Amino acid sequence: GDPPTGCPVAASAVAAGPTPALFSWEFAADPYPAYAWLREHAPVHRTRLPSGVEAWLVTRYPDARQALADARLSKNPVHHSEAAHGKGKTGIPGERGANLMTHLLNIDPPDHTRLRRLVSKAFTPRRVAAFAPRIQELTDRLIDGFAQRGSADLIHEFAFPLPIYAICDLLGVPPEDQDDFRDWAGMMIRHGGGPRGGVARSVKKMRAYLAELIHRKRADLGDDLISGLIRASDHGEHLTENEAAAMAFILLFAGFETTVNLIGNGAHTLLRHPAQRELLQKSLAAGDEELLGTAVEELLRYDGPVELATWRYATRELTLGGQRIAEGDPVLVVLAAADRDPARFDEPDVLDLTRRDNPHLGYGHGIHYCLGAPLARLEGQTALTTLLTRLPDFRLAAEPDDLRWRGGLIMRGLRTLPVEFTPEP
Ligand code: HEM
Repeated sequence: GDPPTGCPVAASAVAAGPTPALFSWEFAADPYPAYAWLREHAPVHRTRLPSGVEAWLVTRYPDARQALADARLSKNPVHHSEAAHGKGKTGIPGERGANLMTHLLNIDPPDHTRLRRLVSKAFTPRRVAAFAPRIQELTDRLIDGFAQRGSADLIHEFAFPLPIYAICDLLGVPPEDQDDFRDWAGMMIRHGGGPRGGVARSVKKMRAYLAELIHRKRADLGDDLISGLIRASDHGEHLTENEAAAMAFILLFAGFETTVNLIGNGAHTLLRHPAQRELLQKSLAAGDEELLGTAVEELLRYDGPVELATWRYATRELTLGGQRIAEGDPVLVVLAAADRDPARFDEPDVLDLTRRDNPHLGYGHGIHYCLGAPLARLEGQTALTTLLTRLPDFRLAAEPDDLRWRGGLIMRGLRTLPVEFTPEP
């Protein structure tokens, strides 16, 4: 693809340093040196984003952890000083103007507390654990699609479809409708960013579909997560149809591109670190799954899917990392920078799949901590284990410098990951 337009963006302090401008095309390939520079010289740094919006970037681990859990930082875009930015994004409180954006990542307590409690009753670790055989089956079916060819694009043929089918199954979207979701999600991931044009159409179609699906489930409850949400709401707690649709939407949205990138970035990191890969492969071949657990956490820390946590807005003036932040200012916590902070991690730029002291922020922290972490771990572990076991000699089929990263702000992930391997007989 082409470099994103509108970049590179002035980040005067960084431009003066030895690294490419923030959010430029070169920056996307390896943002870590620029983040190291910021951590050292401007740990809470005001910058103009590619969209033109100004925001604070928080890059040190302790500041990041504090900001993620700070009640003075709201998730609701109505608190943004630039009203135009927040306009139409969320309808909370009250149902007037509520839409699919009225979801967990855009709301604060008490609405957040009520909705999170409700979904936690339906999205239980037990439900996720029971899903393990289905994830394995989906994984194998996708690998069957290219195993005999000897080559594949691991993003398009593997990392991309796996989470979308997994979440559709979990929610209770019937198999015959799942390819529609794949198309809508493809539209959203390709264009990312703001809801314009094709993206807006995809969101609209998804909303109409989810509203209709929730309606149908109400009349005929099943075993799936949407039915579980409806059941939980029937037992006391209030859940409007819009809130149910917004919940289904955020589960799809938050659980989709993130998992694509966990698998994609994870496979890429293993390809670039042959000794670490061999260590993992040997332990899996020996039937030992202990390393797998720490390995997936380390892959999340080292090059995780969520580069910046989602938006936060100061509801009043506050001081963070010694920096005064005005009411209404947006704050972006750079998880990718915090997770390489030498003040918290020994040799943070070294990939160590055996790392045990690893309280990374890849899933966030505080009340918005990732609801889907158990599912993400299951998908990541299953996908990487199966790849390493079934295609043990898979290798990069491109020059590392030719790989292209997506230009989005929040997520970090590859556009394609071409590989070759000995075909399965
Ligand atoms: C929240 C990361 C997969 C559902 C978050 C947050 C992060 C994150 C960093 C917090 C954002 C913030 O505070 O601004 C990830 C990563 C994943 C992953 C790295 C994959 C490796 C999933 C999956 C699902 C999911 C599979 C569900 C199917 C959610 C939801 C929230 C969330 C609903 C919002 C929780 C709240 O606001 O209370 N995730 N996620 N995530 N995630 Fe995930």
